[in-house]
Amino acid sequence: MDIATLERTDRADVVDLWRAAGLIHPWHDPEREYDDALTGSTSTVLGVRVDVALIATVMVGFDGHRAWIYRLAVAGPRRGEGIGRELVVAAEEWAREAGARKVQLMVRRSNVAVQGFYERLGYEDADVVTLGRWLGEAR
Ligand SMILES: CC(C)(COP(=O)(O)OP(=O)(O)OC[C@H]1O[C@@H](n2cnc3c(N)ncnc32)[C@H](O)[C@@H]1OP(=O)(O)O)[C@@H](O)C(=O)NCCC(=O)NCCS
Repeated sequence: MDIATLERTDRADVVDLWRAAGLIHPWHDPEREYDDALTGSTSTVLGVRVDVALIATVMVGFDGHRAWIYRLAVAGPRRGEGIGRELVVAAEEWAREAGARKVQLMVRRSNVAVQGFYERLGYEDADVVTLGRWLGEAR
């Protein structure tokens, strides 16, 4: 399986996959998220294409202290084949090469199903509360 760094021309397929995987909520701007992640050297989006179809993605970035994984998605019919695991490993490798010593991710509390997946890959509940605030215009 070839895991590649995605490009701007992949954007429409990426956003379709994220939507189909239930990752996009009304307050998200996935096209902008995607473009932002491809801008600069501190983040990237990795993906897998089989023939012409995009079947999996993961976004990873290094903020200078920790690396963060986002937008892990595998197309429904291709789940359970080890593709999600391979993408997380690839994101970890990217993070290691970027200089990170620890990688973290956030899972919505409502996404109970995915927690078992991450535990299987060695991720532990960090027992922290994540706080956030939008910058700029009110939403
Ligand atoms: C989460 C997701 C990426 C997993 O991808 P996948 O390709 O189906 O997972 P894999 O086949 O690589 O599974 C890896 C391991 O996790 C296990 N696993 C997968 N899903 C699991 C689950 N819900 N609970 C417990 N274990 C799980 C597999 O059995 C496998 O174990 P093994 O390697 O010991 O045999 C996929 O289900 C998905 O796209 N979900 C929707 C989007 C989403 O919620 N993304 C995460 C946002 S934080």
